[in-house]
Amino acid sequence: MSGPEKNKFTVAVIPGDGIGPEVITVAKRIASAAASKDGVAIDWVEYPFGASHYVTTNEILPESAMAEMGDCDAMMLGAIGSPQVKPGILERGILLTLRFVFDQYVNLRPAKSLPNVPTPVPLCGAVMDSVVIRENTEDLYMGLGEVYDPSLDKLETRLDLERGGYSLRGRLELSISPKMPFAAQVALNTKHGAERITRYACETARDRGENRVTIVTKSNAAPALYGYFEDTAKGVIESEYPGMKWDTANVDALCYHLVRNPVAYGVLLCPNLFGDIVSDLQAGLAGGLGTAAGGNIGDGLSMFEPVHGSAPDIAGSGRANPIAAILSGALMLRHIGLADSAGNVERAVRGYLERSPQGERPFEFGGNASCSRVGDAVLKLI
Ligand code: NAD
Ligand code: IPM
Ligand code: MN
Repeated sequence: MSGPEKNKFTVAVIPGDGIGPEVITVAKRIASAAASKDGVAIDWVEYPFGASHYVTTNEILPESAMAEMGDCDAMMLGAIGSPQVKPGILERGILLTLRFVFDQYVNLRPAKSLPNVPTPVPLCGAVMDSVVIRENTEDLYMGLGEVYDPSLDKLETRLDLERGGYSLRGRLELSISPKMPFAAQVALNTKHGAERITRYACETARDRGENRVTIVTKSNAAPALYGYFEDTAKGVIESEYPGMKWDTANVDALCYHLVRNPVAYGVLLCPNLFGDIVSDLQAGLAGGLGTAAGGNIGDGLSMFEPVHGSAPDIAGSGRANPIAAILSGALMLRHIGLADSAGNVERAVRGYLERSPQGERPFEFGGNASCSRVGDAVLKLI
């Protein structure tokens, strides 16, 4: 029998803001317990970055910390973002920076219904098992944007970005007449970016035993940006994956179809922005954001985090559902080669949901078990 290659792994972790630390505490305990059953220790290296750290120190994410993280086997993150800090500063400064710096070009977001978890649209006994493969480094997220100050002659902003595989430098210049305030944000999809995410989507479909990838698009309204992504994806599928089929869905219609029939789709290949939106919709259809796990995957450091954010509306109340973070921990374990431990975590979550009485279930599913109580119940089944 072959066991894991190493018996010790180092995992960086940013618990972050709001419910982030609450769910990450639980996810760490459960991942550690499952790994330890398989004779493996996880050394968690915790970093304080997030809103309180920023407010007290003015530090967002130092390069020295990123260099250390890069030496770890994987990373986990709770959530970043707080009403205390203007939107975008920390989300871009920490979360997106990590995705970009480590070139985590895949955002893997499975959407699976779970036993006894109520869904807003009845599944009538069917199981929802779909996955968003989201391009994670480009599109409207590239970061070239500016609010125009009408006291100036024109809007002028410079671009200087590094991505895995390319550097992009340039300048955006816009003048408007008559002068009036406006804002502009530019999106970019490269052939390189669209090709590599399409390959990942095709491999995912193959691993699932499927022969179809749905390309999520909006080529009707933005033919340059999304038509290009779509055509590039089709080209890769047709030329590199014999037997693999593609179909396309405009993102607006896809949302409609998903709500009407949540089990109709398998692999959804999305440009960055649509992948963000569709994965929250999928999470809602599968039972709640508290169920939806995710991974930011690249060829270097990969980072695992739930789909949800810091949920300031419930932070500190104990109402956070930790299952998304626990299942993100399972994705992390599988990624570092601990498939058995990952399976153990996933089985424990299912076992807990199959057996626990209503009162012992997360608030999100109509129960009244706190975040840590849910964690204790899952831990017992590891
Ligand atoms: P959100 O995902 O934090 O919350 C949306 C809704 O879902 C809220 O009503 C919340 O209570 C609920 N919810 C989320 N996770 C839950 C859980 N585990 N259990 C039970 N209910 C849960 O989205 P938002 O309100 O748009 O964002 C809040 C903050 O989080 C913002 O600062 C945003 O930028 C940030 N954010 C961060 C990430 C991340 O770090 N990956 C992701 C999304 C949003
Ligand atoms: C997510 C989040 C982030 C995104 C935000 C916080 C920048 O919504 O991880 O889904 O848009 O990717
Ligand atoms: Mn999101």
